[in-house]
Amino acid sequence: MKEHFRPVALEHASRLINHGPTVLVTSAAGAQRNVMAAAWSMPVEFTPPRIAVVIDKRTLTRELVMASGAFGLCIPGAGLADLTYAVGSASGRDGDKFARHGIVATAGPVLGVPLIEAGCAAWLECRLIREPHSEEAYDTCFAEVVAAAADDRIFAQGHWSVRDDNEALHTIHHLGGGNFARACGAFLAKTL
Ligand SMILES: Cc1cc2nc3c(=O)[nH]c(=O)nc-3n(C[C@H](O)[C@H](O)[C@H](O)COP(=O)(O)O)c2cc1C
Repeated sequence: MKEHFRPVALEHASRLINHGPTVLVTSAAGAQRNVMAAAWSMPVEFTPPRIAVVIDKRTLTRELVMASGAFGLCIPGAGLADLTYAVGSASGRDGDKFARHGIVATAGPVLGVPLIEAGCAAWLECRLIREPHSEEAYDTCFAEVVAAAADDRIFAQGHWSVRDDNEALHTIHHLGGGNFARACGAFLAKTL
């Protein structure tokens, strides 16, 4: 694990995507590995932590996820916005996106999924929940989170800390096309 990355307790893993950040879906099967952008992911169950993510059936990512039964959700910081847009605008069928963009991957601790830490705020390693009917009918994939970690400069003790001094790690939120907004202006609601 890279400097600053710390394991996140599974009971807190849902907080990593609770606010709807755009994620990088990483996958591998046999000699092939891949990464794509996904704006549509969310927590769906508490214990064990389960998530849903929409992975278009036509993508290479979907093919690799179905073959391996696993994937990663890596949460890019604002410093990776251009990269996120790039890996969401080209298919791995046209060449290895890790090699093209010089992305370094580390193997996930439980399933060995390729995970991206440099420039990311956090990652979740996920085991696909096999559901033949939904797999056939829908683009949505359900998975159990089996491990998670976050950069302690922005997520520590189970909480995000969005500040002026960690701007490059602020999560990004897709507004359509190449437009994104950064998570910022965090505040605490008053108790009424
Ligand atoms: C910002 C952004 C968000 C995206 N969100 C999703 C998504 O939620 N689900 C999806 O299936 N595709 C989404 N896409 C499109 C995929 O990333 C795109 O089809 C990608 O080229 C698939 O790559 P692959 O064939 O290498 O797997 C998004 C693209 C961008 C740029």
